[in-house]
Amino acid sequence: MEQGQHVVDPGMLSPRAVSLRQHWDVVPGTVLTAIGERTGRIHSVAPAETGYSSHIAATLDTERGRVFVKGMRTGDGLARTQQTEAEVNPHVTPIGPRLLWRVVTDGWDVLGFAYEHGRIADFGQSSDDLPLVVATMIELARLAAPGLELPSAEDRWAGYLERRADAALLHGDRLLHTDWHHTNLLVTPANRMHVVDWALATRGAAWIDPACWVVWLVYAGHSAQEAERWAAKVPAWTAAPEGAIAVFASVLARYWQDIAVNHPNTMTYRLRDAAAAWAAHRHARA
Ligand SMILES: Nc1ncnc2c1ncn2[C@@H]1O[C@H](COP(=O)(O)OP(=O)(O)OP(=O)(O)O)[C@@H](O)[C@H]1O
Ligand SMILES: [Mg+2]
Repeated sequence: MEQGQHVVDPGMLSPRAVSLRQHWDVVPGTVLTAIGERTGRIHSVAPAETGYSSHIAATLDTERGRVFVKGMRTGDGLARTQQTEAEVNPHVTPIGPRLLWRVVTDGWDVLGFAYEHGRIADFGQSSDDLPLVVATMIELARLAAPGLELPSAEDRWAGYLERRADAALLHGDRLLHTDWHHTNLLVTPANRMHVVDWALATRGAAWIDPACWVVWLVYAGHSAQEAERWAAKVPAWTAAPEGAIAVFASVLARYWQDIAVNHPNTMTYRLRDAAAAWAAHRHARA
């Protein structure tokens, strides 16, 4: 091994190793009581099998039906995302699941969403879900973010821009999701797509959502060219200002590089490589 080479414990290379998820038992009795006031008796708790960020995420079967619950400790730096989800919810339903209630008590901030029956989307090359994602993005591009307290795209990615002046390229008034991880998309038996996890909602230009998706498509096995072909089916993509997509591809390459350094695991390494491959492709054709 070369001297100074960064060594990562293989045990840490599982994405699960960096999960913030905790056992349902950590929820204090006071919080359970407040949840019970909204749901009636809780019959069972099934922890979510995907996602990492929420301290608790689970499906509850209750006296008043099934509900999906996400909770964060209020002292955590990421707790602000609960407010973001609550704030955007009225604007994004029915694409996103309806927020039924919110409990903020005893150091916890817990959101209760309508449970969506569905399977997780598949971004594979021959998946029938890809046109559904395109249709969902077209629908989303109609949503503005008037008066919502959201980070702007130019502020959120400012630290990854090579030239400060390029920030203006990201500017826009659309309500963006930005986290196009396939586990954030649920496909119902009626073939309707629901978008969950609005924690990273951002205000910006509409072409940014399909651009964020490109990285996840490459991660799923598409070539950069194929991935762009899918993104280009969203009309907002073709309306992007000259050079904006190349600038943003570099932004995402630096962003995912940063994530891989700070959260080293097999998934972040592959995302870093996917974003770098896309940026290289974009710049080669410029
Ligand atoms: N309303 C819902 N109904 C049914 N299942 C849901 C619902 N919301 C989320 N899920 C499922 O639970 C998983 C975790 O939820 P979500 O992604 O919102 O939380 P997270 O773990 O905090 O996020 P992250 O993916 O950022 O780590 C999702 O991948 C999805 O499969
Ligand atoms: Mg998620």
